Amino acid sequence: MDKDRKLLIAGNWKMNKTVAEGLDLVQELVREVNQVKEIDIVVCPPFTALSEVSKKIIESNIRLGAQNMSEHTGGAYTGEIAAEMLKEFLVRYVILGHSERRQYQEESDSLISKKALTAHAASIKPIICVGETLEQRESDVTKDVIGSQIRGSLAGLTSEQMLETVIAYEPVWAIGTGKTASSEQAQEVHHFIRTVLSELHGDTIAKQVRIQYGGSVKPGNARELMSQPDIDGALVGGASLDAKNFSEIVLNSI
Ligand code: 13P
Repeated sequence: MDKDRKLLIAGNWKMNKTVAEGLDLVQELVREVNQVKEIDIVVCPPFTALSEVSKKIIESNIRLGAQNMSEHTGGAYTGEIAAEMLKEFLVRYVILGHSERRQYQEESDSLISKKALTAHAASIKPIICVGETLEQRESDVTKDVIGSQIRGSLAGLTSEQMLETVIAYEPVWAIGTGKTASSEQAQEVHHFIRTVLSELHGDTIAKQVRIQYGGSVKPGNARELMSQPDIDGALVGGASLDAKNFSEIVLNSI
């Protein structure tokens, strides 16, 4: 597909896959997508599978991501994982502020921005998620919600850090529901996000930042979504748990 920004397609496994299951998945995935150079491909297993999955993909074109990390660099934070610990496994990306964490762990924009700064300090690229609920869309406040999530979660990032940051637009009502935003609905919000980025960091930076779409992405809708001018990849949940489905999403997006 003809775009200046290289597409980034990431699989968010969420709380799924034992180590053995994860290894089976990536083994097949490596076989299916090993020729792909046009797209950056990332898998984000749970913490418990990072070490083994990392070894399995080390010589492939698939990169490793984590699903969360602490805003702190270390110390007395029971149950938390620090950026440096992720780096041990060659983690290159970390998903931050996923709507499930915003909802169940009550993560705020200001916490997410702290995490993003911590990730950058360790040279891990944050994938920062934003998205409106169905109720917010129906009350016609989508742009207010997204605008404030973007400004809040990106607070304090320099323009250089912005270039190493990925945004994922994931309408909450489209996650795991089988309801994808139409490509027009998604494009409209992606374009709006780029406008906000441009206000924050200027046009040149805004044009280079990758904005992924997430929410019921499947092999059958990937091409249409990726063909939109401001959609630069996908953050895939359910369909990334199956090697065939995930690789077809990648291959159909070329
Ligand atoms: P689904 O692809 O299962 O809708 O999940 C999207 C998502 O939340 C990815 O982070």
